[in-house]
Amino acid sequence: MKRTLGVCYYPEHWPEPMWAQDASRMAESGLTWVRIGEFAWSRIEPEPGLYTWDWLDRAIETLAGAGLRVILGTPTSTPPRWMLDKWPDMLPVGADGQTRKFGSRRHYCFSHSGFRGDCAAIVRKLGERYGHSPHVQGWQIDNEYGNHNTTLSFSPSALAGFRHWLERKYSNIQALNTAWGNVFWSMEYGRFDQIGLPNQTVAEANPSHWMDFRRYSSDQVAAFNKVQAGILRAFSAAPLIHNFMTKSTDFDHFKVAGDLDIASWDSYPLGYLEKHSTLGDAWIQTYMRKGDPDFQAFHHDLYRAVGRGRHWIMEQQPGPVNWAVYNPAPLPGMVRLWTWEAYAHGAEAVCYFRWRQAPFAQEQMHAGLLRPDSVPAPALAEVQAAAAELEAMPEVDGGQARVALVFDYESVWAWQTQPQGKGFDYFGLVFDFYRTFRKLGLSIDIIPPDCASLAPYRVVALPGLLSLDPRLRQALDAFDGTVIAGPRSGSKTPDMRIPTGLPPQLPGFDCTVEYVESLRPGVSLPISGGGAFRLWSEKLSTGMPVRETHANGDPAILGDEKHRYIGGWPDEAALGRILRQACDQEGLPTVELPGGLRIRDTATHRFYFNYGPEAQRLDGIEIGVAEVKWTPLAALPPQRSTTPSRDGEPS
Ligand code: GAL
Repeated sequence: MKRTLGVCYYPEHWPEPMWAQDASRMAESGLTWVRIGEFAWSRIEPEPGLYTWDWLDRAIETLAGAGLRVILGTPTSTPPRWMLDKWPDMLPVGADGQTRKFGSRRHYCFSHSGFRGDCAAIVRKLGERYGHSPHVQGWQIDNEYGNHNTTLSFSPSALAGFRHWLERKYSNIQALNTAWGNVFWSMEYGRFDQIGLPNQTVAEANPSHWMDFRRYSSDQVAAFNKVQAGILRAFSAAPLIHNFMTKSTDFDHFKVAGDLDIASWDSYPLGYLEKHSTLGDAWIQTYMRKGDPDFQAFHHDLYRAVGRGRHWIMEQQPGPVNWAVYNPAPLPGMVRLWTWEAYAHGAEAVCYFRWRQAPFAQEQMHAGLLRPDSVPAPALAEVQAAAAELEAMPEVDGGQARVALVFDYESVWAWQTQPQGKGFDYFGLVFDFYRTFRKLGLSIDIIPPDCASLAPYRVVALPGLLSLDPRLRQALDAFDGTVIAGPRSGSKTPDMRIPTGLPPQLPGFDCTVEYVESLRPGVSLPISGGGAFRLWSEKLSTGMPVRETHANGDPAILGDEKHRYIGGWPDEAALGRILRQACDQEGLPTVELPGGLRIRDTATHRFYFNYGPEAQRLDGIEIGVAEVKWTPLAALPPQRSTTPSRDGEPS
């Protein structure tokens, strides 16, 4: 597939005489796509029922006139101020019970049916006007669902909707009482309309109550999206897209994307390193101008799965952002590197945010491809270079990973609800596995928790997976590669109870978790093969062979031919060994990558990305700092593992 580039543009921010020149500069820079309109509701419908299309018609014509293909956003993440006069109760309510205010964006509660109806109305108008436009070749629905902590809203509409949802799920109140275990602390309900939201209870609320509220809230995002998708499909054959976010886990992205054609995501490597890295100051300083070497790749692989094989970058960081605690500039070369990394992971298009830096309002300190005075900002030259390289590059084709890692949004909610030890974070656990596989030079597929076939894979890992979906259970039954589970996999029922028969409830794992303990930072429990467990450790009894033990001889890691159970959260050394051994057993070649060097194999090429502080050499190729290189797979020597085997010889 031919890969393309694009940019986010706000014609309503600039005098109309600038549009034509902007459009031709975009096209001359090698850009194909231009995304517009996603925040323009107050200009499209300045008063209720009064639509002003002329400016948008002209903007679309002008952009298309320069040869650009338009992605039109539905403007529902920024309802105009008049909407609040109509629906004063549409604002989201925080867990603290405070109603959030107008004056920025995303000021709506997903459960508010009146607002949802008005969204349907504006989307229908857009569909009627532009659904058949040859220039509108894609739609972005809303913008970054869940951003600014808006998935969970504790509003009166959410309360009413939640009660309804529970009634549909359980039919009778006794079934709910039983599922939740409400006999505990006399929490039994007599009617659905007695149930409240789980915030602001005196002591912690029932975890089953929280889980159902999390599911309800996630379903509202999916339902909100479905309304718009259904309307747009009636008017347009162009693909429907949403721009998801980095480390966004409050709703089930797989479900939302079920109504979309393409999952895109917004990649801000430097902002998110500052915001999300748990690895401390030294790590952040090392990567502050490049981003975490695995974070972008993880999200590419996740959103490729969310989009069922089709994913884009809708917003790519081009320079310093404005919203992290500190906002450094990328090292020269990184914009090009991030762009190629996206393609190497299967992205169809990369769009930069934004064309020109705005000299006003909240994001005036956020870089664009142009400075506010229209002079090129540093990223533009890298974008132009990437565009020229794309022209010369034959098609970049996905390739098939042999390693799969399950990612499950419900497990995020479960362990947020009941961490049992501060810092037991499902995302962090899965990401540790991801990073470790990747440092072994492997390409990885992230797969959903209801994945029905594991046939392409040799190694499948499902750390921390709350419970097994019946489809994945069947797929595991048919799988003849190695399955890696634990800690905490198969440890609850979907109702958030300890299963009869105790964890882990996983086919092929003949072991029992007798009890668990969580460990404070700084405590580590050494295991016999080297490295240690930290944060989490499980007391295991087993009929399976014990592969590694704790210092007192208790089993730590179990494994027969095709199964590994890890009874704790392994540190880097331990996890590296466990995963490498599983790959060795399955004949998957691994390599120990130096520093911040990472690789990714497509069907035809190997790509090399150097995030590290020094130049590196691999496969006879020198990769400078902040450099990306690639070579045809055919040019590489036959693959074999370069990790020493037991007798010290390469295996
Ligand atoms: C994204 C958002 C954009 C813009 C950008 C700034 O989260 O979708 O509208 O705010 O961040 O980095």
